[in-house]
Amino acid sequence: MNAVESFPKINIIEGIGIPDFWDAEIFRSALNYKAQSDDIFLVVYPKSGTTWMQVILYTLMNNGEAFDNSMGEYFARTPFLELVGERGMKNMHRPCVIKTHLSFDRVPYHKNAKYICVVRNPKDVYVSFYYFLSKIFNIQPNQTLFDTFFEAFINGNVPSGDYFEHLHSTWQHKDDANVFLTSYEDMKRDLPEVIRRIAQFMNIELSNNLLEHIATYSSFNYMKERFHKAYMAQARIALANEALDEPLPADRITLQNFNRRVMVREGTTGNWPSVMSEKQSQRLDKIFAEKTADMPGVDKLFL
Ligand code: A3P
Repeated sequence: MNAVESFPKINIIEGIGIPDFWDAEIFRSALNYKAQSDDIFLVVYPKSGTTWMQVILYTLMNNGEAFDNSMGEYFARTPFLELVGERGMKNMHRPCVIKTHLSFDRVPYHKNAKYICVVRNPKDVYVSFYYFLSKIFNIQPNQTLFDTFFEAFINGNVPSGDYFEHLHSTWQHKDDANVFLTSYEDMKRDLPEVIRRIAQFMNIELSNNLLEHIATYSSFNYMKERFHKAYMAQARIALANEALDEPLPADRITLQNFNRRVMVREGTTGNWPSVMSEKQSQRLDKIFAEKTADMPGVDKLFL
């Protein structure tokens, strides 16, 4: 195991970077999970709209019911493969949506399983990732950290590995019959259209009523408010239980509760110039052009 010292702290397991507080054995076992014919995988690079799509799929598969107040059922129905591992998957309710940040070539494969992929432009991913990791590692965002993370990001030394390898591996499967590919930008531009296409891909009949419910419950404002409420409720319970022992800071309670707190942040596209320097932007443009030279048309996903 090779611990990378610079920000962010990651461990390399089976060639993939993972946050240093994840369980390496569970992660390894996740790679060995045998995909089943009714599996639905949500394959997304971190900070590219995973949670947004998770809520869309959860609502679509639950007849338009909003996710529950505590979000316990929501987490149970959308397990995170890398954290539940092979054993955890055995106890899952079916059907469920299996969330993963593994690149497509590392995701367990079954020819009848479904694979839903969301991609996002690298600059917004980078900015979102930076804010997310500074929260995870409890560091006040600052320019030095931002610049250190820029180097880590362009070199792929970040949790879940290299952005471009991930994109490449998804791109290679974009035309497969069991693969659905969309982008964060597409979802921002015309969410109802993306929902219609997903419902068709999932063979679920989509009434106007169902579409309306999905659009409402997956809207940024609704998610932001509901995730926050669910977080606060869980934080209060956990802190009350901890009070006799050693109180934890509210943001260190459980990974799930942490997710409730940090997964819905700003929800915009193209806001990177407010934090990224012109030089960094140009460097990333150059890397993007080089690394996507064999993916003609990929940039159209990010318009
Ligand atoms: P920002 O940090 O740019 O705001 P992931 O779930 O893959 O970690 O992605 C997180 C990003 O998706 C965050 O981006 C978050 O705010 C955004 N997001 C989550 N829910 C959203 C929604 N309903 N509409 C738009 N963006 C959303």
